[in-house]
Formats: sequence, structure tokens, C-alpha cells
Amino acid sequence: MRVQVAIVGGGPAGHLLGQLLYKAGIDAIVIEQRSQAYVLGRIRAGVLEQGTTDLLDEVDVGARMHREGLVHGGFALGFGGAHHRIDLNKLTGGKNVMVYGQTEVTHDLMDARAAAGLATAYEAENVSLHDFDGPNPKVRYVQHGVAHEVECDFIAGCDGFHGVSRASVPAAALKTYERVYPFGWLGVLSDTPPVSEELVYANHARGFALCSMRSHTRSRYYVQCSLEDKVENWSDNAFWDELRSRLAPELAESLVTGPSIEKSIAPLRSFVAEPMRFGRLFLAGDAAHIVPPTGAKGLNLAASDVRYLARALAEFYAGSEAGINHYSDTCLRRVWKAVRFSWWFTSLMHKFPDAGGFGQKIQEAELDYLIHSQAASTSLAENYVGLPL
Ligand code: FAD
Ligand code: DHB
Repeated sequence: MRVQVAIVGGGPAGHLLGQLLYKAGIDAIVIEQRSQAYVLGRIRAGVLEQGTTDLLDEVDVGARMHREGLVHGGFALGFGGAHHRIDLNKLTGGKNVMVYGQTEVTHDLMDARAAAGLATAYEAENVSLHDFDGPNPKVRYVQHGVAHEVECDFIAGCDGFHGVSRASVPAAALKTYERVYPFGWLGVLSDTPPVSEELVYANHARGFALCSMRSHTRSRYYVQCSLEDKVENWSDNAFWDELRSRLAPELAESLVTGPSIEKSIAPLRSFVAEPMRFGRLFLAGDAAHIVPPTGAKGLNLAASDVRYLARALAEFYAGSEAGINHYSDTCLRRVWKAVRFSWWFTSLMHKFPDAGGFGQKIQEAELDYLIHSQAASTSLAENYVGLPL
């Protein structure tokens, strides 16, 4: 088989890139190691920046998001027994975020891809990348016992943090930057009404908590947990008690609990690999960088990477190599700003084992400053809604 672009990984980055390339008249195959059901079973991001929703509209997959997604013009910071609203809309001159799950985004992209009859190989095993340092790269994989080879002009490595794409680059050609945080997030999804109409990020002496949602009847909650914690050891009741203990009293009292329909623990990490291009291989999304989830930047960064990549490839086929030559630098400028914001918001909101009384006082002072200073809350708001592309 021959295509212009072989996309390795069928998560949100790979599927969005596929749709952007299709609209640009560039043919591509998406090669995904898991089944469609498995990809859709992973509960992850929930907050989309306007730049991301604009991109979904651009590729004509925004209709259900506009019907079912929730537009939020603010969120709350919880600390000191109360919560304080950050008015995103007012502070950013009219910008909002969209609460719509990553699962739904990926679902909509998969449906659009299937409706257009575009090539997707699910359950692709032993995916390997070849010859991307020359003009004729190849991707090989085995599907249901049959070996396949895809010849292409370019490979897009959209296969997440543990994928094969970044691992195929010679180690000496990569510089990596990493911070691993000494805690994780325990997340619960439940068919219960959200405790608050807007998201609440809470800093508490027992640790961070986040109240989010997927709809008016489905909630998503997280509590900071130990890296040694096991999901099996957290009963639903233990989770609800812990969450309640970290919320301001009036929120805690109105929390509606119910059986969890998903429960998982995610470690927190900041990671960047530079550069994001090697010959004819481009890395995009979590394959190139990871941010801790505080501030909801991961999926949005994946979306901005593939936007730059799709434009660069369209320029290439129109006769200019400028876009592909600048791809890595253009992405990384935006990536590092999101890495900084996610690191800062994580540092502000979590309990760190070695922070001591001094660290806690500094957090309290910064939170107090944030809610009372227009300059500080504007900085938080403009990063949260997403810096310009
Ligand atoms: P992935 O979603 O990891 O997709 C990569 C795909 O490649 C997968 O389907 C995988 O199966 C496939 N693959 C892997 N290896 C191979 C291989 N060898 N061959 C072929 N295919 C392969 N981000 C936000 O923006 N907002 C949020 O609110 C938010 N909340 C989060 C909450 C949690 C608990 C977590 C864990 C993450 C959150 N994120 C959030 C981050 C976000 O989920 C990721 O940044 C996003 O999934 C990145 O998309 P991706 O397509 O680059 O990678
Ligand atoms: C969600 C996740 C986040 O990391 C975040 O900052 C906001 C919301 C969520 O899963 O809903």
C-alpha cells in the first residue's frame, strides 16, 4: 500500500490529523495498535480550548460537541474553606472553554473517518518505522496474522507517550527534559449530577481535588493520591469520603454520590523531547510531550501540534518546505508555555511531601494573591483558555 502520510496512533492526535489531511486532499492511513473499543474506553481529558473546538469545526466534526458540550465561562479555586470564581470570560475578553470528553471527541473523529471511507488499521501489532531519514519511509505492521507494509512520503508519530515512534529515533538525536511528581490522581466517573455548575480545583491540607463533569448527569472527580496507592484499595465510599473532606463545607454537603462507572490512577509527569522532527518523521501530541493534567493542556497541545503539522504538509504538497522545516520550533514554543503553566498550576494546587510549613504558607499567599490581583487572575485565565496559536 502507498499513501502520502502514514499516521501511527489512532488517539485524538492521530484521528484529528487524519481529518485535517483529508480536508487538505492528502491521503493517509491511521495505524492503531488497539481496538476501537479499547481506545474509546480510556477516560481522559475533559476541557477543550477554543482553538481546539475551532479545529473540530474546521474539519466538520463539531456538531455533536456544540449540542452536548457545556460552555464554561469560569471555574473556581477552592482553598481555606471557601471557593473563589475565576471569571475566564471577563478576564480574557470573551473567551470560554468547552467541557466535552476526550472519548466523545475521538468518537466523533472516528465516525467522520469511517463515513468518509478512509483507511484505518485497528489492532495493528508489531508496528515498526523504517527509512524515515530518506525520501521513502515505510511503516510495517501485522494485523490479524497478516503482515503489511505501507510506503509513504511522511510518518506522523501520534502514538502517545509509550508509542514506538519516539522510541525509533536514535537516542543521540533526542534531548529530553523531565519532571516526575511525587503523587498521582485517582479519578472516578459516576452518573451523578456535578457538585457545582463549573469546575472546582481545590487545594487542601489533605491534598488536591478536582470536581469536573461530562454532562449535567455525569461527574468526573479526582483526588491527589500516593503513587503507591492501588485502585483496588479505594472503595467508592472511601473515595467519596476523601473528596468530601477536601471541599469547602457547602460543596461537601451538596455532593451527590453513587457507584463509580470508572476508577483509575494516573501518574503525573512533565516531559518534552526535542526536536519533534527527524527527517520525514514528525512527532505530535503525547508522543513528543506530556504535561501533568492540572490545567487540562495535554489534549489541547496535541490538537495544536497536528494543526501545525497538517498546514506544514499542505504547504509541502503546494511546493514549499518552509512549514515542515519550522514544524518543531513552532510547536515547541507553544509546548513549553503549556508545560510551564501545567507545572505552575500543579505546584500551586498539590500537597508536596517535602514542602513543609513554609511551602504551605507560600501556596496560601499565592492563592490569595491570585484571587485578589487582576493581573494574576488574568494570567491564570489567559493560560487556561489557551494561548494564541
Ligand atoms: P494518546 O491519547 O495516548 O493516543 C495515542 C494512541 O496511539 C493510542 O490510541 C495508542 O493505543 C496508540 N499507540 C500506542 N503505541 C502504538 C504503536 N506502537 N503503534 C500504533 N499505535 C500505538 N488533556 C487535556 O487537554 N485536558 C484534560 O482535561 C486532560 N485531562 C486528563 C486527565 C487524565 C486523568 C489524563 C491521564 C490525561 C489527561 N489529559 C488532558 C491529557 C490527554 O488525555 C492526552 O494529552 C491526550 O490523550 C493525547 O492524545 P494523543 O493522541 O497524543 O495520545
Ligand atoms: C478534567 C481533567 C483535567 O485535567 C482538568 O484540568 C480539568 C478537567 C476532566 O477530566 O474533566
